[in-house]
Amino acid sequence: MTVLEVLTAATDYLGKQGVESPRLNAEHLLAHVLGKKNRIELYLEFERPLGETERAPLRDLVRQRADGRPLQHLLGTVEFLGFTFATDARALIPRPETEQLVELVLASGDFERVLDVGTGSGVIALSLALKRPQSAVTGCDISPEALALASENATRHELAGRVQLIESDLLANTPGPVDVIVANLPYIPEAEFKDLSREVGHDPVLALAGGADGLDLIRHLVAVAPAALSPGGLLALEIGHDQAARVCELLQANNYRDISPRRDYQNIERFIIARHG
Ligand SMILES: C[S@@+](CC[C@H](N)C(=O)[O-])C[C@H]1O[C@@H](n2cnc3c(N)ncnc32)[C@H](O)[C@@H]1O
Repeated sequence: MTVLEVLTAATDYLGKQGVESPRLNAEHLLAHVLGKKNRIELYLEFERPLGETERAPLRDLVRQRADGRPLQHLLGTVEFLGFTFATDARALIPRPETEQLVELVLASGDFERVLDVGTGSGVIALSLALKRPQSAVTGCDISPEALALASENATRHELAGRVQLIESDLLANTPGPVDVIVANLPYIPEAEFKDLSREVGHDPVLALAGGADGLDLIRHLVAVAPAALSPGGLLALEIGHDQAARVCELLQANNYRDISPRRDYQNIERFIIARHG
C-alpha cells in the first residue's frame, strides 16, 4: 500500500468509529510514525509504498485513537503559541483558546513578575517566559504530577533556571507581590461531567472539576489574589462559557476595577481581565 492508500484506509476506519476530523487525525498519526516534522510532508510522498514495519505502529495508534485516546496523548506533544510542549495524562491537554489568554496578558502592557495559578503542563507560564524574556515567571499547581510535566517542559525550553514551579493550593505557598496573576483553573460544574466527551475523560479530574457551580476555585482565587497583586496588578482568568456574568459580580464584590470580559474566536465570553488597587 502507498502512503495515500494507507491514509485513506485509516481515515475511513476512524470516520466509521466516530472520530471527528478523521483525515486530519490519520495524517497526524502517520506523520508521527514516519518521523515527519509536520503532516504536510506526507503530501510529497503519497505514492511511496509503506512496508509492514511502518504500517504496524500506525495500526496500533489508529486503534487507540478509535478507542477514544486523545490525539495529543498519542503524539506526546502539542503546539501552543508556536512552541512545542509535551502533554500526557499527568495534566490537562492544553486547549487552543488558552493561547488567547496568554495573548491577552501580553497585550495588557508591561509587567515584571507573573504568576500562573494551576499551571498544569506549564504552557501559560512557559510561553509567557519565552515571549517576555525579562520577566520573572512562577507557575504553581496543587498536583505534583502536573508539576513534574511542567518541569520537563521547562527543561525542554531551557527555562528550568528561570521559571519557578511550586506546589501550592492556589496562593498558599506562592511568592508575592506579582504584577499579573493568570489562571485557567478548573471550572466545570459537577452536573456537567456526565456530558463531557470521551476525550475529556482522559484529562485529570483535578484539572476540570470546579465544584457544584464550577466556580469554587475561581471564587477563592478572586478573593485571595488582591493580597498577592502589586497595586494596579492584573488578574486574567479563563472561565466557562456561561460564567462571565457571575465572575464579573465576584470581581465587583471584591473591589476589582476595569473588569472586562473578552470573547474567544468562537465568540464565547471565555476570559475576564480586571485590575486591583
Ligand atoms: C484547567 S487545568 C489548566 C492547566 C493549564 N494551565 C492549561 O491552561 O492548560 C487546571 C489546573 O489547575 C490545577 N488545580 C486544581 N486545583 C488547584 C488548586 N487548589 N490550587 C492550584 N492548582 C489547582 C489542576 O491540577 C490543573 O493542572
